Amino acid sequence: MTLLPRARAVVKAPQQRSQALFCSCPSTTCRERGAEHGQSRGATCGAAVCGAVTQTTNIHQPRLQRTACECQGPAVTPLQTKKRDKKGQQSDGLLAPQAHGAGDPWRGAGPAPNKQRRPYKCAAGALPALPLQKMPRCDTGSAPRDGAWAQVSSAAASGAYPKRVKVVEVGPRDGLQNEKNVVPTPVKINLINMLSETGLQVIEATSFVSPKWVPQMADHTEVMQGIQKFPGISYPVLTPNLKGFQAAVAAGAKEVSIFGAASELFTQKNINCSIEESLERFEEVMKAAREANIPVRGYVSCVLGCPYEGKISAAKVAEVSKKMYSMGCYEISLGDTIGVGTPGSMREMLAVVMKEVPVGALAVHCHDTYGQALANILVALQMGVSVVDASVAGLGGCPYAQGASGNVATEDLVYMLNGLGIHTGVDLQKLMDTGTFICNALNRKTNSKVSQASCRL
Ligand code: HMG
Ligand code: MG
Repeated sequence: MTLLPRARAVVKAPQQRSQALFCSCPSTTCRERGAEHGQSRGATCGAAVCGAVTQTTNIHQPRLQRTACECQGPAVTPLQTKKRDKKGQQSDGLLAPQAHGAGDPWRGAGPAPNKQRRPYKCAAGALPALPLQKMPRCDTGSAPRDGAWAQVSSAAASGAYPKRVKVVEVGPRDGLQNEKNVVPTPVKINLINMLSETGLQVIEATSFVSPKWVPQMADHTEVMQGIQKFPGISYPVLTPNLKGFQAAVAAGAKEVSIFGAASELFTQKNINCSIEESLERFEEVMKAAREANIPVRGYVSCVLGCPYEGKISAAKVAEVSKKMYSMGCYEISLGDTIGVGTPGSMREMLAVVMKEVPVGALAVHCHDTYGQALANILVALQMGVSVVDASVAGLGGCPYAQGASGNVATEDLVYMLNGLGIHTGVDLQKLMDTGTFICNALNRKTNSKVSQASCRL
């Protein structure tokens, strides 16, 4: 078997219509999806050596990424290893765009600098170019990769915490909106399709905002129309106004979110109007949504601090939350947009907001800039909140809150909830695989501590 160079194990550019089904080739190790073999959906890949790379999304055992698929499927275009010339005209041997017939993930985003396509390296260190079987393994030995390290406590059973938590995955929207380089639409679609297989119930897919303001979300319609919509999973999208709502519905959205803030200045910067004006716009969206029978979620940003105003009073958060809840939002997600909150300020703020909005209708949305997100979430859970937003691999930020880091990593949240014995229905291993996929695509190290640790231990 010819070994593939390590670098080829970087993201395979997913196809627009990549199907969720895995290849049904006889190999026990092949985890490729049928469509990515260039085959029809779910078809047996029957080549001698199909050239597919197995375990492409496995962060934990990166060497496996180099393993050629053992399936007996039809030959597919072998991966190329050209050297890039100084003008960057050719592949540098990282990922051949034609591999498996897929397009270059950076095509369409303009020529990507060479370094942007370097693969994410496992935190275990650089991988020497050794034959596969001689590779030092990023081996966990007995370390479980499914979160089983977490000591499961009976906390949930004792009533101190909710028994189950709904995890709202915001990575494809909150995570990707902040990327400097345009993330190719097929990568976004593949990300959402992979997330759909993890057991998540809610995956925020994109936003119907102005492409002049947030160019990264300009492909909202293509994303909505390209993803596989799994039964039982909701794919809400952000809609700041009626125009966005109408475009979202036309693209097939079945749930939307409006987004306001408890800070005047942030509202101005983010959606170019005052809080009062934003609420008027939201009323229009709510009316249209009611007529179309579309559920609406509401965000309130800057609940624990604002990048422009500093401290925000809990009373203001409660006031805006109450207004959005009263106008018909079924849930209010309280956003610590810049991640400055602490368990103390979270507790204080929630106590005030819970007087105006029932706790069952509250969610928390914690960015992790100061490393407080999990602690803040824990406090929210103790106070009865059972809906938590998170972003796979901890991607993201807000374009109008410079310096804010991504949301709490979904992997870390699920790990913690598993440890508390709180049911989420999410498969941590699949989630970590998805995190690896998107980190490879973005040439980024994961922000998930759990994923980093799973690779090191
Ligand atoms: P505006 O410029 O005030 O809008 O922007 P306008 O009504 O004056 O229209 C100006 C142009 O935008 C017009 O086009 C409109 O057609 C167009 P032109 O005639 O110049 O060609 N336009 C739109 N195009 C597409 N979709 C629309 C839309 N509306 C108007 N929906 C607007 C107002 C809200 C549109 C703008 O400010 C905007 O798009 N802002 C984006 C804000 C954003 O996406 N922020 C990030 C998400 S919020 C967040 O991350 C926080 C959160 O995660 C929670 C947390 O962490 O706290 C949710
Ligand atoms: Mg956010």
